[in-house]
Amino acid sequence: MSLTFTVDPVLDPSLREGLLQLWTDVTNAGGAVGFVAPVTPDDVRPALDAQLAAVAGGGTRLVVGRDRDGAVAATAFLARNTHRLQLHWLWASTVMVHPRLQGEGHGRELMAATEAAARSLDGIDAIRLGCRGGLGLERFYASCGYKEVGRVPGAIRVAPGDDRDDVTMLLPLH
Ligand SMILES: CC(C)(COP(=O)(O)OP(=O)(O)OC[C@H]1O[C@@H](n2cnc3c(N)ncnc32)[C@H](O)[C@@H]1OP(=O)(O)O)[C@@H](O)C(=O)NCCC(=O)NCCS
Repeated sequence: MSLTFTVDPVLDPSLREGLLQLWTDVTNAGGAVGFVAPVTPDDVRPALDAQLAAVAGGGTRLVVGRDRDGAVAATAFLARNTHRLQLHWLWASTVMVHPRLQGEGHGRELMAATEAAARSLDGIDAIRLGCRGGLGLERFYASCGYKEVGRVPGAIRVAPGDDRDDVTMLLPLH
């Protein structure tokens, strides 16, 4: 099944609900998107509201992939920096594909749509993101053209005694 990607779609209640369910389902399937399973939609909602407020404010772009039925199946956020010396690159975050659709190439399509969204902005030279170590995600991002440029050992505590590296990946756009 192919997904249809849009950038900055209208933030209506059905999109909000779809994103909330996606983020909850991805987390509960073991995804590394800012939480540790198990979570409920109520656990995730404040983080989603903060991300969507940034989208509404214009500082962040939202990439959404929908399946044939229009259900929200994949998403990524692209945030501008506010620091005056770092305006030339963007942060990607909350990159996720619904568990029922993972492993079919949609993640790579999502990152291609995210890259295209970044390239459509003037003056953007790179996309940067941080990912949780120990899950093989570096290999996923490498398959999308990103290179590992840094790693902070043990910076992410997923549980007492289970610290993961915070791995920095970079995609230069020129
Ligand atoms: C990470 C994620 C977005 C990848 O999407 P996907 O649709 O499963 O990935 P694709 O099918 O497009 O895979 C592209 C390539 O990356 C590889 N890959 C995908 N997920 C991987 C993982 N977790 N570890 C290692 N390699 C992975 C695939 O094997 C494939 O490589 P190949 O072409 O050599 O076979 C998706 O698995 C996901 O949503 N995971 C949970 C959320 C998460 O952890 N997000 C990362 C936030 S930093």
